[in-house]
Amino acid sequence: MAKTFAGVLSALTASSLVEAAISWSPILTLPPVPDTYPNLTACVNAPLTYSCENTTVITNTCCSPTPGGLVLQTQFWSTYTGLEPQGQLLPNNSWTIHGLWPDNCDGSYEQYCDLSRQYDPSPSPSTLPDGTKVPAYTGPSVETFIEAFNRHDLLTYMNAYWVNQGADNPSFWAHEFSKHATCTSTFDVACYGPDYKEHEDVINFFDSVIRAFKMYPTYDMLAAAGITPSNKTTYSLSQLQNALRSQVGATPYLGCGYHGTVLEEVWYYHHVLGSEQYGHYKTLDSTTNSSCSTTEGIWYYEVTPSSVREVL
Ligand SMILES: *[C@@H]1O[C@H](CO)[C@@H](O)[C@H](O)[C@H]1NC(C)=O
Ligand SMILES: *[C@@H]1O[C@H](CO)[C@@H](O)[C@H](O)[C@H]1NC(C)=O
Ligand SMILES: *[C@@H]1O[C@H](CO)[C@@H](O)[C@H](O)[C@H]1NC(C)=O
Ligand SMILES: *[C@@H]1O[C@H](CO)[C@@H](O)[C@H](O)[C@H]1NC(C)=O
Ligand SMILES: *[C@@H]1O[C@H](CO)[C@@H](O)[C@H](O)[C@H]1NC(C)=O
Repeated sequence: MAKTFAGVLSALTASSLVEAAISWSPILTLPPVPDTYPNLTACVNAPLTYSCENTTVITNTCCSPTPGGLVLQTQFWSTYTGLEPQGQLLPNNSWTIHGLWPDNCDGSYEQYCDLSRQYDPSPSPSTLPDGTKVPAYTGPSVETFIEAFNRHDLLTYMNAYWVNQGADNPSFWAHEFSKHATCTSTFDVACYGPDYKEHEDVINFFDSVIRAFKMYPTYDMLAAAGITPSNKTTYSLSQLQNALRSQVGATPYLGCGYHGTVLEEVWYYHHVLGSEQYGHYKTLDSTTNSSCSTTEGIWYYEVTPSSVREVL
């Protein structure tokens, strides 16, 4: 919008400026965007430490993800969505977002930790290891939560880069929130203080996922090392790992299907200094061995042309 504004301005004479300003007033009256940040004032004096590296007890878990201090930013490589007729397409020249997961420091993890924030229409698993049933959510889509906060910018970005396969995008976003963010202490409702606005934690999580995703332009990092999608040639696991390690300083997890021969996923591991929302992410080696073949070539397939679109 700024570009258009400047362009129009330069075309105007000074005398027409006042009139123009009046005719633009509807544009300037944007709907309010409520803030969605947690209240971290108490963290200002908390000991500063990377998650999973604290040498004293972390008493305020709004300040550092605890116990889920091994934080994974996860992405998918897909060649189709299955919902192309409905306009659900993949972004050109980009991997897509899976989520932001709070593993415990030992690599184990919790899921669906707060059933009062269960927005996932098809919980997976629907029964937790301790026998707790996770009820399917039947209320309004999380998309309506984003709209209620007037975050159309966020919704547009999510529909472009956080793309589901075989089902609609909002059900995937809801799944990621309810399964993972409810187990991430820095998104606890209590962290937003007494003025908590319903669903602000959901918006805050979605913004945080995108912030973390933007740190890892996997497509560009691989392409910069000469590794581009191809239906003609394969790559070795070490080629893929070396390309990413040379840019991020650690070896992420690479996930492959079809007996380790088709590249499908990447997981970047971290300890986080400060909150998961705004803190510093220290990239670490994966704690999980790759599921990709170490002996066979790995396919990094080209996307189906009718499944992709250009996005900003
Ligand atoms: C934030 O929390 C502090 C205590 O940690 C409290 O004094 C302050 O009033 C809170 N601010 C808001 C806006 O809730
Ligand atoms: C780090 O903090 C967690 C959460 O408070 C605590 O359980 C753990 O014992 C702490 N680690 C050390 C070494 O104090
Ligand atoms: C990962 O692979 C290494 C080397 O092949 C092996 O020693 C180690 O046990 C594997 N770790 C797991 C968790 O499977
Ligand atoms: C490349 O191969 C994959 C897997 O068979 C297929 O889904 C995709 O459509 C192909 N892409 C192109 C451009 O042919
Ligand atoms: C995707 O980007 C490539 C350049 O990398 C371009 O050749 C192609 O036309 C783009 N596809 C779409 C659907 O925009």
